Amino acid sequence: MSSSHAPQPNSELNVKNITIYGTVILLISALTVAGVIAIASSVAHSSNPQEDASAVARIAPVAKLEVAAVKVAGAAERTGEQLYTAACVACHGSGAAGAPKIGDAAAWKPRLALGLDGLLKSAIKGKGAMPPKGGSDASDTELARAIVHLANASGGKFKAP
Ligand code: HEC
Repeated sequence: MSSSHAPQPNSELNVKNITIYGTVILLISALTVAGVIAIASSVAHSSNPQEDASAVARIAPVAKLEVAAVKVAGAAERTGEQLYTAACVACHGSGAAGAPKIGDAAAWKPRLALGLDGLLKSAIKGKGAMPPKGGSDASDTELARAIVHLANASGGKFKAP
């Protein structure tokens, strides 16, 4: 009886043990899988932005250079007439704000006497109601061309740079 009595708690214990071991093994493997997934995803997440950031850092000078090249090309491409139409005609087309009107030789005569350099200086700085560069983002060369366009349509005989 003792031999038939003894295995019962043992087998119960075994069943319990198996259940416990099973549970523990399942837990460990679940945790391991979760851990691997967590590590893998953290590696994936941390390396991608780094790669992205370094890629951005690598292309940044090229991108800046291209933007600069486009700006230079754009500056070289804007003629005096283009800048005048874009940024000067609002005042100089109508004489608004007391601006010397394009084609008004009498209004321009005393100003033409300043020479292109003198006119460029006042246009860069701004004068009276005229904001610096007429409120434009023009380069000095573009500004000079627009002045020549404006002046030569108003009795001047300047050479465009
Ligand atoms: C907001 C109106 C306005 C805009 C825009 C404007 N101007 Fe003028 N400009 C004036 C006025 C007003 C004067 C007269 C200033 C004075 O003599 O007090 C003037 C004067 C000038 C003069 C004569 C400066 C001098 O020393 O006598 C030049 C050159 C000139 N503008 C060029 C330009 C050019 C080029 C642009 C465009 C890039 C431009 N302006 C845009 C209002 C403007």
